[in-house]
Amino acid sequence: MCHPTQTLMDKSKLITLPADEIMVHVKEAYSTKEDAINFMVDYILKPDISKTLCASIDKFGLMPSMASTVTKEQARVISSMMYENFPPKAYQ
Ligand code: HEM
Repeated sequence: MCHPTQTLMDKSKLITLPADEIMVHVKEAYSTKEDAINFMVDYILKPDISKTLCASIDKFGLMPSMASTVTKEQARVISSMMYENFPPKAYQ
């Protein structure tokens, strides 16, 4: 709902970063898939301003925890899907 998966959307309607921009930040910060996913799973369940990689946190605020919505295992599956699909090749 919050992180759109289309590129080239109307940026004025964004309430946070799209999935492809998130994954650019995550892949810049973590060089292996395992490290990236470990960061993401922790962030999805326990987001904290001290952990964010997003300079745009000043604009959008802190992400709400997804702990009451997804399990750790589901967060791992979502993170792996995001890692494999974003950013799309045409974007890189
Ligand atoms: C399972 C669903 C979600 C996943 C997998 C997810 C994943 C992520 C990830 C990986 C980041 C980047 C953290 C970083 O690079 O520092 C992030 C940031 C962010 N997300 Fe989400 N997110 C989810 C749901 C949401 C929802 C529902 C909202 C809004 C209601 C939201 C709002 C934000 C915002 C504002 C940020 C940027 C500020 C920050 O770093 O906290 N996210 N999200």
